[in-house]
Amino acid sequence: MVYSSPIPQLGLGTFGRTGDAGIAAILKALEIGYRHIDTAQSYDTEGPVGEAVRRSGLPRAEVFVTTKVADTNLDKSRFMPSVEKSLETLGFDHVDLLLIHWPSEKDAVPFEDYMLALKEAQERGFTRFIGVSNFPIAHLERTRALLGEGAIATNQVEIHPYLQAPKLRDYARDHGLVLTAYQPLVKGAVVSDPVLAEIAERHGVTPAAVALAFLMAEGHAVIPASSSEANLRANMRAKDVRLSEEEMNAIRALDRGDRRINPEKSPRWDD
Ligand SMILES: NC(=O)c1ccc[n+]([C@@H]2O[C@H](COP(=O)([O-])OP(=O)(O)OC[C@H]3O[C@@H](n4cnc5c(N)ncnc54)[C@H](OP(=O)(O)O)[C@@H]3O)[C@@H](O)[C@H]2O)c1
Repeated sequence: MVYSSPIPQLGLGTFGRTGDAGIAAILKALEIGYRHIDTAQSYDTEGPVGEAVRRSGLPRAEVFVTTKVADTNLDKSRFMPSVEKSLETLGFDHVDLLLIHWPSEKDAVPFEDYMLALKEAQERGFTRFIGVSNFPIAHLERTRALLGEGAIATNQVEIHPYLQAPKLRDYARDHGLVLTAYQPLVKGAVVSDPVLAEIAERHGVTPAAVALAFLMAEGHAVIPASSSEANLRANMRAKDVRLSEEEMNAIRALDRGDRRINPEKSPRWDD
């Protein structure tokens, strides 16, 4: 799959990377070459992300930064102040991508309210691109009806070799929408997968790099998290891995609909 999106395809997740240790991990990733950093209002990592970008000395424009509006900030009175607070915490005048983290549970906040607020945040220059997270197809259809085709740059969802979300994947392909795969390494569990390990050995990389290379070959962006320099470097090597169709099919066969993140507030998933 040819990847054409302004979102750098291999990014860095920051969940759990708080405080000074978080700053150090994010800074190391920037030094290694990561140029896409994923944070959220609810992670407590917006501060560390801003600080790491400043300490890196990189021009702000060279680092693509995503943040997400928490589901507790979706209503009209809280939405825009929360975005302004995110920018203040990051120390930036805009982010590159602003996402709705979760749709409002049972439409407690009207869908139109927060989706139009998201669009307004873009029009006000608080973000270059807008997108969503944890949206199933029904919510993507509502988004398309409200904002038009192509209005959102991504849907960030759980995707990995054990949860390949084929219905959502096919819908996204049909609509030219990039999916950003969160928890792409199943929190590190992919390292002990025998199929990935065998392919990894053939390519001289780690099983984690094979999982990431697979997801990217499927057309997704990926945001693995790590605080380890060795793992950050190993994951970056995924960019150089070219999997054969036979290897792709072997990894496609690992899909077992194994969803790890499924809180009470989840919408009805497609798979
Ligand atoms: N939108 C959402 O609702 C949502 C939900 C969940 C996550 N996310 C985003 O997605 C990001 C990634 O998800 P995640 O952090 O939950 O899980 P993940 O990226 O699948 O896994 C991270 C874990 O894997 C380990 N790891 C990383 N590289 C490794 C390697 N090469 N070999 C072995 N272990 C490795 C890390 O440990 P070390 O530090 O020791 O390397 C870390 O504990 C998050 O940080 C967050 O930004 C978004």
